Amino acid sequence: MASSRTTTASARAAELRDILNRALIAYHVKDEPVMEDAAYDVLFDELVALEEEHPELLTPDSPTQRVGAPASERFRKVRHLSPMGSLDKVTTDEAVAKWADDVRKRLGREGDAVAYVLEPKIDGLAINLTYRDGVLEQGATRGDGVEGEDVTVNLRTIRAIPLAMAGKKKVSGTVEVRGEVYMPLSGFNALNERLVAEDKKPTPNPRNAAAGSLRQKDSTITAARPLSFWAYGIGVHEGVDLATHWETLTWLREHGFPTNPFAERVESVEEAVERCVAWETRRRELDYEIDGIVIKVDSYAQQERLGALHGRPRWSRAFKWAPLTAVTRLKKIMIRVGRTGALNPWALLEPVEVGGVTVSRATLHNEEDINRKGIREGDDVIVQRAGDVIPQVVGPAGPHRKGTREFRMPTHCPLCNTEIVKPEGEAMHRCPNRACPSRGLETLISWVEGPADIDGVGEQTVRTLWEKALVRSLPDLYRLKKEQLLELDGFGEISATNAIQQIEASRTRVPFSRVLLGLNISGIGWVLAQNLARHFLTVDALIASSPEEIAEVEGFGPDRAEAVAEWFADEDNRALVEDLRGLGLRFEAGEDEKPREGPLTGSTYVITGTLERFSRDEAQERLEALGAKVTGSVSAKTTGLVVGEEPGASKLTKAQKAEVPILSEADLLSLFGES
Ligand code: IVH
Repeated sequence: MASSRTTTASARAAELRDILNRALIAYHVKDEPVMEDAAYDVLFDELVALEEEHPELLTPDSPTQRVGAPASERFRKVRHLSPMGSLDKVTTDEAVAKWADDVRKRLGREGDAVAYVLEPKIDGLAINLTYRDGVLEQGATRGDGVEGEDVTVNLRTIRAIPLAMAGKKKVSGTVEVRGEVYMPLSGFNALNERLVAEDKKPTPNPRNAAAGSLRQKDSTITAARPLSFWAYGIGVHEGVDLATHWETLTWLREHGFPTNPFAERVESVEEAVERCVAWETRRRELDYEIDGIVIKVDSYAQQERLGALHGRPRWSRAFKWAPLTAVTRLKKIMIRVGRTGALNPWALLEPVEVGGVTVSRATLHNEEDINRKGIREGDDVIVQRAGDVIPQVVGPAGPHRKGTREFRMPTHCPLCNTEIVKPEGEAMHRCPNRACPSRGLETLISWVEGPADIDGVGEQTVRTLWEKALVRSLPDLYRLKKEQLLELDGFGEISATNAIQQIEASRTRVPFSRVLLGLNISGIGWVLAQNLARHFLTVDALIASSPEEIAEVEGFGPDRAEAVAEWFADEDNRALVEDLRGLGLRFEAGEDEKPREGPLTGSTYVITGTLERFSRDEAQERLEALGAKVTGSVSAKTTGLVVGEEPGASKLTKAQKAEVPILSEADLLSLFGES
């Protein structure tokens, strides 16, 4: 028999599951959040703790079961209970009208009104969720429409997908729910920023990012990706009685599935066309990509009478906007060696106009991607411009031309002839030579254009100086003489004098944080360089610090901290720092990079939760104005943890463990000398 303690625990676990699941529905389905993220986290942690203590209380629909499981083998193939079709597309108003005519003719009976439902066509990937007695049993990709891949563990990590159906009445039997998994643009941009900061290749578009995230062998990676989901239909649906698609959308929402809020029902094809046209501009306001509008005949009776042709329903069309693509000859695949030694292929194209812009180069990703898409030098290829992004080569425009071959990365670096490596598990090839010109040259170019922003010395000059072996490192640049510049084409007395003056001026003008940025440490961008400068104040303090100490800096995790420590542990790098310091560059924080002097100088605070009187930024500013530092994580050195409403549980626990004093908002006010 269960002890009373277990019974209470069981009741509390059920309550927590209910509260958390409701919160997820409120957020994802109703778009009306009922609690702060921090509150969600606290309750979530409580449930985790309960389930750890009483493993028998764990249920498959517990929100804690979304965190991912260890790596699985290849995905199992599974058959959908009913096939997943695909849609024929139309691209003009006339084609929509013609289709609607055909629909009316096929339905035969004069006067039989046809209503349509319009939904944004989400550019993600279609999935099929199988629920048995209301509980998610399996989730699969669409695959070929008949058979897909079992990605249940990964789908379970997506919070917008209910693990159990909501609703007062229990649904018994089997129901297939269909919809689109996608990555919101905000999440996509953040993901790419992170990948770039970690020196990894960014994903080309949200669709790829979503597909790649869903096919991860390690679902903890999927769990960390910002994926979401809209439901747009059902397959097999035992015991569920629905007469129209519009009713189905309502039914889905009532059972906890998010449906797109912009779905609408119209009663004439004219209205349908009008909406499709309006969406072409409206789509830019959305935080996700849509590549068209799906038009569906609303009535299921009418859908059935219309039927399908080769898995493509006659009762639906995808209205798609004309794509920004063109066909042109791919003259050559070129290689650029980046600042960190990564080999970046790009396409040199026969110039072609795409959506009003002449395009002569396009990005390519890596060897595997190029060959998977069948892109070869000498072929005619499809070039695409997606929005304002750099053009991409989509694939060959037809069969390969005679004499073309699969693309191979060079085996040796085009700049220094060192043998190229491809680290295990990475998509990119790299030149491992740390003295490779790519690193020096690219570092120099980015120095004069970025951190130092030197007028009169740009990429072209740096390239020439490099080729003539006049400048091969940052210190060389500061040793450059006017006479040497005068030997170059394009420099006269005035321009050479000016360039030397500008270089001279940059010596002391560039603040410490930008010098750090210019050192080209992998993963350190503008913001992190600034945080490092502010935190350590001198390069000597930074050199002396351990990875653990660096990890305390806002924005750093253990990996980045390790990379920075490693960089400064390297003798050559330290010699570079000394050389530059000797030349007068700044390795100490300037006044605006230093915390202000004040009564709280020397103390460090962390803020968590929501404060009543201030925003977090305001509180940070006021603390800093009194001389305090404000950091992102609690350590033994933290002077105090300021706790607002719904604080982060991990910060609280850490502070308690490290015996860091906990301050309320009232305590903070008295620090500020207010009551
Ligand atoms: S309905 C019989 N509705 O478009 C197929 N599809 O080829 C019924 N898609 O694979 C599909 N948004 O990935 C439908 N609101 C929506 C959609 C949608 C995106 C995708 C889906 C499907 C493809 C159609």
